[in-house]
Amino acid sequence: MEKITLNFDKTFDFISEDAVNGYAAELQKHNEALHNKMGKGNDFLGWVKLPSSITEAELADFEATAKTLQDKKIEIFVVIGIGGSYLGAKAVLDALSDSFAHLKGSDKPLVLFAGQNIGEDYLHELRELLKNKEYAMAVISKSGTTTEPAIAFRLLKKDIEDKYGKEEAKSRIVAVTDANRGALKSLAVSEGYKTYVIPDDVGGRFSVLTPVGLLAIAVAGFDIRALVQGSVDMENASGPDTAFENNLPAQYAAVRNELYKNGKLIEILVNYNPKLHYVSEWWKQLYGESEGKEGKGIFPASVDFTSDLHSMGQYIQEGERTLFETVISIGTPDQEVSIPTDADNLDGLNFLAGKRVDEVNKMAELGTMLAHVDGGVPNMQIVLPKLNEYSLGQLIYFFEKACGLSGYVLDVNPFDQPGVEAYKKNMFALLEKPGFEEETKAIKARL
Ligand code: PA5
Repeated sequence: MEKITLNFDKTFDFISEDAVNGYAAELQKHNEALHNKMGKGNDFLGWVKLPSSITEAELADFEATAKTLQDKKIEIFVVIGIGGSYLGAKAVLDALSDSFAHLKGSDKPLVLFAGQNIGEDYLHELRELLKNKEYAMAVISKSGTTTEPAIAFRLLKKDIEDKYGKEEAKSRIVAVTDANRGALKSLAVSEGYKTYVIPDDVGGRFSVLTPVGLLAIAVAGFDIRALVQGSVDMENASGPDTAFENNLPAQYAAVRNELYKNGKLIEILVNYNPKLHYVSEWWKQLYGESEGKEGKGIFPASVDFTSDLHSMGQYIQEGERTLFETVISIGTPDQEVSIPTDADNLDGLNFLAGKRVDEVNKMAELGTMLAHVDGGVPNMQIVLPKLNEYSLGQLIYFFEKACGLSGYVLDVNPFDQPGVEAYKKNMFALLEKPGFEEETKAIKARL
C-alpha cells in the first residue's frame, strides 16, 4: 500500500536545508519525550501509541454496532458533538463520501451532525428532516458537560423517544464519553445506552481514532481497518528509532518552525479537492488549540483551491509576506473525466480536448505553487497517492505527531486548551447559570 510523502524543497528559497536539519537532535529528544511520556502535558499522550493498541475485538465491536444500526434500515445517523468530538469524523466522512450521496440515495446511512453549533434554525431544520426519516444517533462528549451538544441531545433525545418509544429509542442511541465522569456518563448509565469510552489520556482533538471517530465512520460504511492500518504504519514510521531523514512528522515540524522563526507566522493548508475542506477544519483545530498559547503559535488558516484562488489568491500572491502554504495533493482521483472536443470550439477550449480534468487541476496546482513561491510564499506539499482510508489514516497520525513535536519546539503544552474556557465563563454568567452569581453581576456591570 502506498505511503504519503512530504516535499519541502520549495521552502529553500526562504530557509536553509541546514537549518531544517539542525532540528534533528531537538526533535529526537521531543519524540522520545512523547513516547516516554516525559514532556509537557504528559497525562494526555495516549494518542501516541493509540493506533497500534487498537485491538481486533474493538474494531469488531464498532463494526457490530454499525451493523446493528444499519440493520434497522436507518437513513440518517446523527452525530452530536463539537470540536474534537466532531471534526475528525466529519473530515474523514467528507473526504471519503460521494459529494452528492445524499441526493443520489445510498444503502448506507448519511451521517449528519448536531451540537457543533447553537444555531436555532439549524436545529429546527434538522428536527423537521428527522421527523420523516429512519434514524439513530451518537452523542459524543469527553467531558460530558459541553453545552452545545448537551442542548442538541436534550432536544433530539425527546424527539427520538417520541418517534420510536423509550425502549426502541434506547437501542438507537449510542453514548461516547469518559469512563467515569460527566453528566453524559451518568445519563448513559441511567438510560442504559450502549456506551463507548474515550480514553482518559486522549484529548478531544487527538481522538478521531477512538470511538469518537471510528464509530460514525463504520456506520457510514467505510473501512475502519484500513484507516487504522494507515495510522499504525505512520506510527511505526515516526517512532523514536526513526532517523530524522525518514521521519515525516519530524521534518514537517522542523520546516514549519524554521519558517515561523523567519517571520512566516501564518500557515495556510491548501487543497485542490473540495472533499478535503473538513480535513483542513480538523487540522485547524488540532494546531490552533495545541499551539496558540502564551502569545505564541503559527496561525492555522486554510483555503480550497482553485475556488479560493478567485477570492484569497490575490492576498496570498501579494499581501503581507507572513504566509507559508502546505498543500495536500492527491495523486490520482478515483474517477476519470476527460474534456471533450467541440467542433465549433466557441469557448476556445479545444487545446484541452482529451485531457483529464485532473490534469488541468494538477497544472493549476503546479502553476500556483510556483507563482506563490515567486511571490514570497514558501510551499510544502504532502502527497496522498489516493484519497482513501489508508492514506487518511497516515495523514491523521502524521499531523498529530507533528503537532505534538511542533508544540514542544515552541515550548508550550500542546495538550491543554485553557483559553477555551474564557467564552464559556462569560456565556454562563450572561445566562445566569447557578454558581456564576458573582460573574453575572460583574459582566452585567460591563454592558
Ligand atoms: O480538543 C478539545 O479538547 C476540544 O476541542 C473538545 O474536543 C471540545 O471542546 C468538545 O469537548 P467534549 O468532547 O468534552 O464535549
